[in-house]
Amino acid sequence: ENLETYEGRVELGIIGGTGLYQLGCLEPVATLATVETPWGRTSSPVTVGRVRTEGADAFYVAFIARHGVDHEIPPSRVPNRANVACLKRLGCRAILSFSAVGSLQHQIKPRDFVLPQQIIDRTKGIRESSFFNDIGLVAHVPFGEPFSEAFAKYIHRFRDVLENPDSEEPCELHFDRDTTVVCMEGPQFSTRAESKLYRQFGGDVINMSVLPEAKLARECEIAYQIVCMSTDYDAWRDELEPVTVETVVGNLTANARNANALASKVIAAMAAERPPFLKNADGLHGVVQMSISTK
Ligand code: ADE
Repeated sequence: ENLETYEGRVELGIIGGTGLYQLGCLEPVATLATVETPWGRTSSPVTVGRVRTEGADAFYVAFIARHGVDHEIPPSRVPNRANVACLKRLGCRAILSFSAVGSLQHQIKPRDFVLPQQIIDRTKGIRESSFFNDIGLVAHVPFGEPFSEAFAKYIHRFRDVLENPDSEEPCELHFDRDTTVVCMEGPQFSTRAESKLYRQFGGDVINMSVLPEAKLARECEIAYQIVCMSTDYDAWRDELEPVTVETVVGNLTANARNANALASKVIAAMAAERPPFLKNADGLHGVVQMSISTK
């Protein structure tokens, strides 16, 4: 089986970050071992899962591990264009992305999840961040609202999965209109001074992966929402040691369990309901056509 077998049949794409290399909740129907696109090969094999639904057509989901299945791809080298192009070709109308983040706010505790609605770009301009470079036309897609609020609201409906005190790892699912993720280049973590600066910018969490993934999803007219999984307090708290990989990894296992639990609920509900933002890609249809600038 290859990409063509499922072309146009998959409705939801999932991109898993550090610590989330597979989704236990899916019944896998195929693993596309190597997927080549005009922008190179995807980060990982693409797993296609199926959810059977009563009355409606089966619901197909595709999963990609952003850093590869053995976590071998650093943030600056993720083939984002290949990943997003593959999901577009499969037919995805929405992408649910997961990412480990550092927290820039006291109330966002390690292991809490956050659904941000804004991004501050602190990458260094070295990532390929558009499909429209060097193809003989100019497109400026709107990006003022980089995420899908409808999708975030939908995910937030299932906060009990995380917030229920009887759950194995109870934690909060934060969702406010103006929550902001800072995206830095990495791979080194921030200095204390930078970490404090990002708080002054209005940052709530920080990662190395939301860009250009979110921009490329927008260029593909795919509704996109990231779920940020907090692992540490970054470096801004003078009374704490600045973040280390050990701290991050220590919280990742719990986060992966919670991510799977949340994703299961969201996928099952989307399969049963086919919510409007999924059917119409949250209104993005035609946004690229309207963004092409000519003389
Ligand atoms: N991913 C997880 N923790 C992070 C941090 N503190 N800074 C950047 N990316 C991260």
